[in-house]
Amino acid sequence: MSAVINLAHRGAAGHRPENTMISFKYAWELGATGIETDIQMTKDGALVLIHDETLTRTAGTPEWVKDLTLAELRTREVGSWYHEQYRGEGIPQLADLLEWARDKSLCLNLELKNGIIPYTGMEQKVIDLIRDYQLEDRVILSSFNHYSLVACHTIDPSIRTAVLYMEGLYEPWTYASTIGASALHPFKYALTPELIQEAIRQGMPYHPFTVNDPQEMKKWIEAGISGIITDYPDRLAELLGSR
Ligand code: G3P
Ligand code: CA
Repeated sequence: MSAVINLAHRGAAGHRPENTMISFKYAWELGATGIETDIQMTKDGALVLIHDETLTRTAGTPEWVKDLTLAELRTREVGSWYHEQYRGEGIPQLADLLEWARDKSLCLNLELKNGIIPYTGMEQKVIDLIRDYQLEDRVILSSFNHYSLVACHTIDPSIRTAVLYMEGLYEPWTYASTIGASALHPFKYALTPELIQEAIRQGMPYHPFTVNDPQEMKKWIEAGISGIITDYPDRLAELLGSR
C-alpha cells in the first residue's frame, strides 16, 4: 500500500451520491485507503452522515437536520438528486459506516460539521461510538471549528485530530501542535510545495482538499504530500500504482 493516504471525499462523490453507503463502498472498490465524511446531529441526538445542515440540496426538502428525529430522517432519500438510478438511498448513521469499515484497512476521516450549528455534546457522542467499535487508531477527527478539536483532544488524546482551514494560517504546524492536532487539512489553494517541505521537517502531515485533477495530484505527490482528499479515489489510486 502506498504511503500517501487516498481519502475518498464523502465517499466516491465523483461517481456516486455523496455520503451514502454505496458511495463509501464504491470508494473502497476503487482503491481508496480512507473515507472522508461529514457528521451532523438530529433533533434526538443521532449522528448522521450528511454534508449540509439542511436537506434542501440532496433530499429536495427544505428542512434542517437538527429539527428532524432520526425516524423522520430515515424516510428521506438522498440518491435521486445525483441520478435517478440511485433513488431511495438513505442518509447513513455514523454507526453504519463504522460497522461496515471495522474489518477493512481504512482510515476514517470524520468531519464534525459543528461550525454553523453548535451541536451540544457531539464530540463526546462521536468519541463514544468510535470507542464502541474500537476504532480509535483508525480515525482522524476534523473540523473547521477548532474549539471542537480541542474538546475532542481533551476527551481522548489518543484519537488524532486534524485542522480544517481555508486560508491564512501562519506556521500551521505550530498552530496544530498547540491545539493538540496531528494533521493539517487545508483547502488546496492554501498549500504550496514549500509549505509541504517545511511540514515534513516539522513532522506534521498535510491532507489537502478537494483535489480531483490528476495533474494536480501528481504535483502534490512529487512535493511529498502525506495524503489527498479527493472525489475520485480511482484517479489517485492509478497515480499511486495501487490500482
Ligand atoms: O474535509 C475536507 C472537506 O470535506 C472540507 O470541506 O465542505 O467538503 O466538507 P467540505
Ligand atoms: Ca467534509
